[in-house]
Amino acid sequence: MKKFTIALLYNLKINAPKDGNGEKPWDAWNELDNEKSVGGIERALRAGGHEVIGMEGDANLLQKLSHYKIDIAFNTCEGHRGGSRESQAPAMLDQIGMPYTGSGVMALALALDKPMTKRILRFHHLPTPPFQTFFTGNEPLAAGLDYPLFVKPSREGSGMGVTAKSVCRNARELREQVRYIIQAYHEPALAEEFIEGRELTMGLLGNAPWHLAPRADESRKANGNGRARNGLKALKETLRVFPPLEVDLSPVPAEEGGLYTSVVKGKLYEVPKYLCPAPVSKAMRAQLDKLSVAAFNALECFDFARIDFRIDQKTGAPLILEVNPLAGLQEGISDIVMAAEADGVDYVALINGILNAALQRYGMI
Ligand SMILES: Nc1ncnc2c1ncn2[C@@H]1O[C@H](COP(=O)(O)OP(=O)(O)OP(=O)(O)O)[C@@H](O)[C@H]1O
Ligand SMILES: [Mg+2]
Repeated sequence: MKKFTIALLYNLKINAPKDGNGEKPWDAWNELDNEKSVGGIERALRAGGHEVIGMEGDANLLQKLSHYKIDIAFNTCEGHRGGSRESQAPAMLDQIGMPYTGSGVMALALALDKPMTKRILRFHHLPTPPFQTFFTGNEPLAAGLDYPLFVKPSREGSGMGVTAKSVCRNARELREQVRYIIQAYHEPALAEEFIEGRELTMGLLGNAPWHLAPRADESRKANGNGRARNGLKALKETLRVFPPLEVDLSPVPAEEGGLYTSVVKGKLYEVPKYLCPAPVSKAMRAQLDKLSVAAFNALECFDFARIDFRIDQKTGAPLILEVNPLAGLQEGISDIVMAAEADGVDYVALINGILNAALQRYGMI
């Protein structure tokens, strides 16, 4: 295996701007990384035999990078400000033509915006709860949307803004929650049908064959673009789907409302039961696989991602809640890390698998 010099890019919580737009909710910056998470990725890349230079992905990133001879960046930057903040570091890297792991500017910007993601999913006939975006909180409720509705920020992650109050059972609760989200997070609120049911997440590693650099993709030459003829089977040769991880929230205190809230994700992460592979039928597993791959490709994700689902207990149908192209990668803790482990892919193999997927995509191996 070739050895590479890798710039590990991160936005640490301790480096988050101290200013901000007035008072911030308690869970602001919850998405940002801690030293433990970054340290784990660094160790894993070193265990893969690579040289690693870590740096904060801030406004001075290009200047810092110019001091080194870097082959590829391992990007974990969540960004600080702006509706498309996860795509800021990748946009800088694109400017200087530096390869980086994970999705590109477009997929990161799209996936951070949940309503925009849902529009794309719907275009591809992929199931996601019916929804409405509120910009002021005064808009009339769209026809066809029924209570209970679930209200969350449009452009956050790590359960930010998700509490038991997210479930709105009438117009009064809806207005209150929508206005709170808009005012506290300074962004539109997403209201969607509340899905009562099991909570599952799917991890993916790799790429669709048609995104691989030509010399790394022999199968494409043989099979046209690989898309039409071989379907899911051919896709899965280069894009691995880990078994479904179920997050059983039943042990979590009742005040979290049976939801995967920011409190559960941040403080009580040891409380839910994580079942992987989730006990689902063969047919459900096949459906989850298919939907995950389709969502990954609909957004043109690269190298890895996690797709969150709820299974509607009324209909038994799995519905996509959101796509996470920059899924957390903390050793032993993050959902995709647990799902990979359950599939025999340990932490070092997962991190180096993401790196290798990117290297292959750029034709560097
Ligand atoms: N429509 C819904 N119906 C029921 N529960 C929902 C719905 N949308 C979100 N939730 C609950 O809120 C949690 C967080 O929602 P979601 O995954 O959309 O947000 P997130 O903060 O971006 O998450 P992540 O940490 O995965 O980035 C879900 O895991 C689920 O428990
Ligand atoms: Mg989620």
